[in-house]
Amino acid sequence: MKILVIGSTGRVGLLLTEKLLQDNHKVVGTSRHGDRLFEASNYSQIDLNLLGSMEEIRKEIPNDIEAVYFVSGSRGKNLLQVDLDGAVKTMRVAEDLGIKRYIMLSTIFSLQPERWNEVPSLRDYYLAKFYADQWLMKNTELSYTILQPGHLKEVKATGKISVNVNDLGDNSIEDVAETLKELLDKESTFQKVISMHDGGIPIKEAVSFS
Ligand SMILES: NC(=O)c1ccc[n+]([C@@H]2O[C@H](COP(=O)([O-])OP(=O)(O)OC[C@H]3O[C@@H](n4cnc5c(N)ncnc54)[C@H](OP(=O)(O)O)[C@@H]3O)[C@@H](O)[C@H]2O)c1
Repeated sequence: MKILVIGSTGRVGLLLTEKLLQDNHKVVGTSRHGDRLFEASNYSQIDLNLLGSMEEIRKEIPNDIEAVYFVSGSRGKNLLQVDLDGAVKTMRVAEDLGIKRYIMLSTIFSLQPERWNEVPSLRDYYLAKFYADQWLMKNTELSYTILQPGHLKEVKATGKISVNVNDLGDNSIEDVAETLKELLDKESTFQKVISMHDGGIPIKEAVSFS
């Protein structure tokens, strides 16, 4: 497939892009810094700024993309414009370009405001992710999956996770990237919100819903 990874310079985005390239997908990464991230011949890169207008974003995106990953974020610095409006613009552009598949990296509790007081410092972040996720679910026809990990940790991957969890746990960044990769074309995960943290079930099995 030809896949756009929005946020491929990030901690999750880099590993996800690498995994998709290893599976021989054609991957288009995004960066605002110019340097090419991967030398692989199945990799190309666009300069995409989520602060740009929809028209500017649309112009950058090749018109033969088949799936989009949104793994971007402003680390709390520009939540409205990047994590919320930036995400929504990419959903609208995806629909304009006829792309069907859209995979959103969100966060646990994004859709449960009653849980937000468990991490008060993340309230504004939760708000941004809440409305971005809501837009994806309610205002688009995209075949979406929303993945909701808890804390991202730079620790060794185990290849094992728990899904549909109800508590805030740690997540190996590499296991999150692997989980995102596994979701790519799994129709049983379309129109689903999947929470996760490190656990005991092999990733492939954990995201194989019947
Ligand atoms: N941190 C956690 O514990 C946690 C927990 C659950 C979920 N998450 C979610 O996971 C996401 C990814 O995490 P991460 O640690 O991989 O993030 P990260 O390393 O901070 O990467 C963020 C990415 O967003 C891109 N970005 C930021 N502003 C942009 C803009 N204006 N236009 C285009 N791209 C922009 C960055 O690109 P540039 O290189 O161009 O800046 C980078 O690729 C987070 O954003 C968050 O929503 C995080």
